[in-house]
Formats: sequence, C-alpha cells, structure tokens
Amino acid sequence: MTPASPEQFKAATRLAWDKSAGGWNRQTGNIHAWLAEATQAMLDAAHVAPGMRVLDIAAGAGDQTLDIARRVGPAGQVLATDISASILEFAADNARRAGLLNVKTHVADAEALDLEDGQFDAAACRLGLMFCPAPLQALRQARHALKPGGHASVLVFSEPAANPCIGILISTALRHAGLPPRDPFQPGSLLSLGKPGLLEALFGQAGFAGVAASRIAAPFRLPSAADYLDFVRTSASPILQILDSLELAAQEAAWQDMQAKLQAFESPDGWIGPNELLLVSGTRPAP
Ligand SMILES: C[S@@+](CC[C@H](N)C(=O)[O-])C[C@H]1O[C@@H](n2cnc3c(N)ncnc32)[C@H](O)[C@@H]1O
Repeated sequence: MTPASPEQFKAATRLAWDKSAGGWNRQTGNIHAWLAEATQAMLDAAHVAPGMRVLDIAAGAGDQTLDIARRVGPAGQVLATDISASILEFAADNARRAGLLNVKTHVADAEALDLEDGQFDAAACRLGLMFCPAPLQALRQARHALKPGGHASVLVFSEPAANPCIGILISTALRHAGLPPRDPFQPGSLLSLGKPGLLEALFGQAGFAGVAASRIAAPFRLPSAADYLDFVRTSASPILQILDSLELAAQEAAWQDMQAKLQAFESPDGWIGPNELLLVSGTRPAP
C-alpha cells in the first residue's frame, strides 16, 4: 500500500528501517566491499580531510561514518544522522567498538535536520537521499548546515537499466503482492533519483554552486544468487515493505521467484550483480 500523506510515508520508512536495522548491520562486511570504491569517491568529492567536521546524512549502521571518522582523524568530528533510531544505535556501537571517539549521532529526518546554520565543513549521504519524498528539501537542509565553501556529495542508484537486479526485485515483489507496476522514478523510491539530470538540477535549486556529476560502476560480488537474496531478505527494507502484507507461504514463493531470476547473474567467478551509482556534489557558495 502507498501511504497517503508525507507523515505516513515517513512513519512507514522509520518503522521499516527500524525493523531492517539488525539485518543491514549484519551485512556490513558485504556492503563495505560492494561500496568501498564509491565511498572513497564520495568522500573525495566532499573534500573530506583531517580535522574537518562532517555531516553524514541517512548514515544507517555507520559503515561510511567510520570511513569518514578515520579520514578526519581525532581532531575532526562526524555527526551521523538517520530517521531510524534503531539503525543509528548500531552506528554508535560500531564507532565505539572501532575505538573512534569522534562520532556523534542525531536521530533526524534528512528533510528536517534542525541543525544550526554553517557548522560543517562537508556533508555526505550514501544511498539515502532517494528515500526522501522531498529530496530538494533535504539538500536545502544540507546546504544550510554547511559553512560557506563547504562541499556536499551524494551517492544514489543511477538509471533503472544500469541496475537490473533492483528492477527484478521490485517488479517480482509487486507482482506477487498483487500490485501494479510502479513508476521507477516515484519520489521516495529506490531508483527515484536515477532519472537523468534530476539530482544535478536539485543541487542547483537547493543553492549549491559548482555542481558536478559522475557515474560509478559498483557491481555487487557474492558467491551465489542465494547470498544476494539473503542480503535482500535480511536488509532491503523497500522490498520487505512490498511483501509485508502477504502470508509467509506467499512471501516464500516471491523469494523463490526472485532467486530463480537472479541466477541469470551467476558466472564461473560467482554472482556479479551489475549496479551503477550516481555521484553528485556541490559547494555552498560564499554569501
Ligand atoms: C540503504 S540504507 C543506507 C545506510 C548507509 N548510508 C549506508 O550506505 O550503509 C538507507 C538509510 O536511509 C535512512 N533513511 C530513509 N529515509 C530517511 C529520511 N527521510 N531521513 C533520514 N534518513 C532516512 C534509513 O533509515 C536507512 O538507514
């Protein structure tokens, strides 16, 4: 079911990620390997360097938060924010276990960060902005939190054709749930910011200067399709949300169908799911 109001949408998002928090955290090793190169490109684009104060938006269980904390070093600081309090607890715990004392957390919707003007040297958001039904508002909040001259960078999935596994998962889940196909660019959905030119335009509208965009190939490599399905089943909250209303047996039939389709990406080198990410960055101009 599509929630009727923005408030209901946010409440459903928060609940879904609270439920998936443990699963996403358990998958940190796989996620780290999948996104390592793209994450470094995102932090380079935000000019993250030692001593900086960095805002991490939709930080999840904090995998990229820890990368940022290591880059800024003990003289710097990271504020990890997320709409889900449960997933942020994992981020805080992971930072503590890694001995990183320069990480703080703040539960907040990216569209309403409620932070003081001009406090951060850089801002980053990895695979979170597409879940905001009003991403322009979220970008305005990020720009407000940056010091003049500070940089923001965002990673999202690019076009549907370059991310075929996501298309398979969504279309199969919708069909099993008896729901009609969805516009892949529906605001707040997984591929919503993959619409060509959209995210760059939103950066401009949010008041960023020097907007730059690039695409990064990020194939997901796992031993088998079953391992990818395990990742999705434990952590991919948008797919779990679609199947939520079904009886367990019907959910199981949907998972089996997805796995059969995903086997097309198995090769002698293991399962390689093509993914392409879009990296967009910009600078808060001086007044
Ligand atoms: C795919 S996970 C990515 C987490 C982390 N950035 C990473 O790459 O591992 C998406 C995250 O976005 C968060 N999220 C979704 N909608 C949000 C919103 N409106 N404001 C803040 N966080 C949001 C979820 O709670 C979840 O932690």
